[in-house]
Amino acid sequence: MAKTASLKLDGKEYPLPIIEGTEGEKAIDTRTLRAVSGHIAYDQGYGNTGSCESQITFLDGDEGILRHRGYPIEQLANQSDFVETAYLVIYGELPSPAQRKEFGMRLRNNAAVEVQMQKILEGFPTTASPMAMLSALVSGLPAYHADLATNNFEQDLKNFDLAAAVAISKIRTFVAMIYRYQKGLPFIFPKQELPFCENFLHMMFSEPYKDYIAMPEVAKALNLVLLLHADHEQNCSTSTVRMVGSSAANLFASISAGICALSGPLHGGANVAVMQMLQSIHDEGDDGTRFIAAAKSGSKSNRLMGFGHAVYKNFDPRAKIIGKACDTVLKKLGIKDPLLNIAKNLEQAALKDDYFVSRKLYPNVDFYSGIIMRALGIPMNMFTTMFAIGRTPGYIANWREVAANPKGRIYRPRQIYVGPTKRDYVAIGKR
Ligand code: ACO
Repeated sequence: MAKTASLKLDGKEYPLPIIEGTEGEKAIDTRTLRAVSGHIAYDQGYGNTGSCESQITFLDGDEGILRHRGYPIEQLANQSDFVETAYLVIYGELPSPAQRKEFGMRLRNNAAVEVQMQKILEGFPTTASPMAMLSALVSGLPAYHADLATNNFEQDLKNFDLAAAVAISKIRTFVAMIYRYQKGLPFIFPKQELPFCENFLHMMFSEPYKDYIAMPEVAKALNLVLLLHADHEQNCSTSTVRMVGSSAANLFASISAGICALSGPLHGGANVAVMQMLQSIHDEGDDGTRFIAAAKSGSKSNRLMGFGHAVYKNFDPRAKIIGKACDTVLKKLGIKDPLLNIAKNLEQAALKDDYFVSRKLYPNVDFYSGIIMRALGIPMNMFTTMFAIGRTPGYIANWREVAANPKGRIYRPRQIYVGPTKRDYVAIGKR
C-alpha cells in the first residue's frame, strides 16, 4: 500500500503522499498542499525541497557518496575519461564501442567556431571576465544553430544529439579562444584528429608553427578534473538550467544561464577564491592561522574558501580523489608548488578545529582543483570556465530530463510576501 504522511492544520487532517527514490530517499509530496489547505511549503534556498525526480546523479552528503547513473565517482575517476562519463551522464548508460565512436565523432565535427562568433568575442574588452564572455558566447549559439534551438521541446529533442555535441565541443573551444584573446594571441583551430582534452590543450597552448603536444600525464589530469565536475545533482547552476529550460527555452540558452549561476564565488568561482587565499597566505609568509581565525568569525566574506558544502556534511568524495591526484600529477610533472603544502596544512588545521568539525565543514572539490589546473598551465582567471566545460554534460542531461518530461511544468516557486500591505499612490509633488 502506498505510504502517506499526514498534516494536521486547524483541526483538519491532510494526507500527503510519500515518494521514495531508488536509494531510499524519502519525500513528502506537497504538490497539492496549497490547493487543499491554502498553505504553501516554505523552504528558503530550497535546502529541503526536492524540485524534481531525476535519474542522473545520486548524492548522499552525509555518507560522502556520489554516483552517476549508479556508477561510483571513484570508479569513473579511476577507469573512465571525461568523454565517456559525459556520454554516461547524458544518455544514462556507458556507451558501446560504436556509440562511443559516434559520440566522439560528433564532438570532433563540432569543435570549430563560426568566424562571426570570433567577432563577438573580439567586441569584448580583453579585461572582461572570462565567465561573462563565455555565457555571452553560449547564449549566442542559437543565432548560429537556429535549427537546434527552436524553443519547442519536441523539435529541440529531435535534434538533441547534435545540440549536445555542439554545446560540449564549442564551450571547450570558446574557453581556449577566451584565453588566447585575453593574452593577445591568435586563435588556434581545433584539430579533428585529437582527442577532446588534447584538442583543448592544443587550442590553448600551441604557438604559430609549433603545435603543443600534450604529455599523457597532462591530458589524463585534465580528463580527471573535467570528469569530476561532470554533474552534481541539483546544485545552484544545474537547478538554474532546469528552471530556464522549464520555460521551453532551448538547450544553449539554458546552459548560458547555468554558466552565469556558476560564476559566483560561493559556487564555481570558489576555485579562484581558494587560489587567491592560498596565494595570499604564501605571499604573507603566514601559515593560514589568520585565515582560519577570520573564517571562524561567521562573516560570509571571510569564509575558508574550498571548505564546506551545501549538501556534503562529510568529505566531498571528489576532494579526496583530486587531493590524491594533486600529489601524483605534480610529482610526474616535476612541479613543486608551495600552495599544495599550504593547502595540506590548512586542511589539517581546519580538520582539527572544533569550529569546522562541529559544523561538518570539510574540503570540497574546489580546494585542490586549482592546484592541478595551475600545474597544467591554466591561469587562475580561467578556472571557473574549466568548471563550466566539465559541468556541461550535467547541464545537458538535466535540460533533457526537463524537456522530455511529459508531466513537466514551468518552474515557478511561490513566496511569502512580507512587504507593505495595500496603500494608495501619492503623486510626486504631494509626497
Ligand atoms: N568557512 C567558515 N565557515 C563556514 C564555511 C566556510 N567555508 N562554510 C560554512 N560555514 C559556516 C557558516 O557560517 C555557518 O555557521 P553558523 O552555523 O555558525 O551560522 C555554518 O558553517 C553552516 O553554513 P551554511 O551557510 O548553512 O552552509 P551552506 O550550506 O549554506 O553553504 C557553502 C555552503 C556556500 C558551500 C559554504 O560552505 C561556503 O561558502 N563555502 C566556501 C565557498 C566554497 O568553497 N564554495 C564551493 C562549493 S562546492 C562547488 O560549488 C563546486
